[in-house]
Amino acid sequence: MALKTLIFSFLVLSFHTLTTAATADQPSFFVRSIDREMTEKKENYSHFRFYWQDIVGGANATSIPIIESIPKFNLTSTFGLTRVIDNALTVGPNRTSKLVGRAHGFYVSTSQTEYDFLMIQTFVLFEGVYNGSSITFLARNPINEKVRELPVVGGVGRFRFAKGYARVNTISFDYLTGDTTVEYNVYVSHYHH
Ligand SMILES: *[C@@H]1O[C@H](CO)[C@@H](O)[C@H](O)[C@H]1NC(C)=O
Ligand SMILES: *[C@@H]1O[C@H](CO)[C@@H](O)[C@H](O)[C@H]1NC(C)=O
Ligand SMILES: *[C@@H]1O[C@H](CO)[C@@H](O)[C@H](O)[C@H]1NC(C)=O
Ligand SMILES: *[C@@H]1O[C@H](CO)[C@@H](O)[C@H](O)[C@H]1NC(C)=O
Ligand SMILES: *[C@@H]1O[C@H](CO)[C@@H](O)[C@H](O)[C@H]1NC(C)=O
Repeated sequence: MALKTLIFSFLVLSFHTLTTAATADQPSFFVRSIDREMTEKKENYSHFRFYWQDIVGGANATSIPIIESIPKFNLTSTFGLTRVIDNALTVGPNRTSKLVGRAHGFYVSTSQTEYDFLMIQTFVLFEGVYNGSSITFLARNPINEKVRELPVVGGVGRFRFAKGYARVNTISFDYLTGDTTVEYNVYVSHYHH
């Protein structure tokens, strides 16, 4: 009998707690639902292609080391190397081709055994309706693999609620200067407004 009463009290209490919680979860003074039509009906899935120009040398370098590789005996990578970038995004592989945006951010060599970079960068675009909109990547980039996939973690402007990924491959590396051109095929959802 005592146990039944206890269970009953527990259920009543739980129900009370649940209803209280539900009320607390309702839209209130600091949160409310947004109209899903604002997002769903305006959703686009698009494929952008950019060429990412990592210019490390010369007077016009856009990729600057801010932390050098951590010296350690027998290390087979550039572990620790960190570069801040303001890299051009061009329409073609030639770095003199039309500039359509810039990659702002930095990348960090985060493996002690391979050439694997953590990419933290935002692509800000300049063209047409995309002018001023940006897409953000946070990704592992093992550069010796032919094709790498970098997740899109968000965006603003035309890229609000962005989700997607980029398939990237290095198309040229200048052994003399260290300059690199990487092709980015970005598959991303975005919104027209
Ligand atoms: C986005 O989608 C809308 C309709 O859903 C369409 O009219 C528009 O052309 C699309 N834009 C792009 C860039 O795909
Ligand atoms: C740097 O850019 C300027 C202006 O575009 C150009 O005249 C110059 O030749 C460039 N220098 C190098 C080393 O690429
Ligand atoms: C460095 O690598 C060599 C060859 O792999 C190995 O024989 C040596 O023990 C290593 N030294 C250290 C300090 O790890
Ligand atoms: C890139 O474009 C410039 C100017 O149009 C040209 O002189 C150069 O040969 C091109 N480079 C390559 C690798 O195609
Ligand atoms: C992009 O926007 C900036 C600032 O609003 C403006 O100065 C620039 O001309 C625009 N570029 C294009 C290609 O529309």
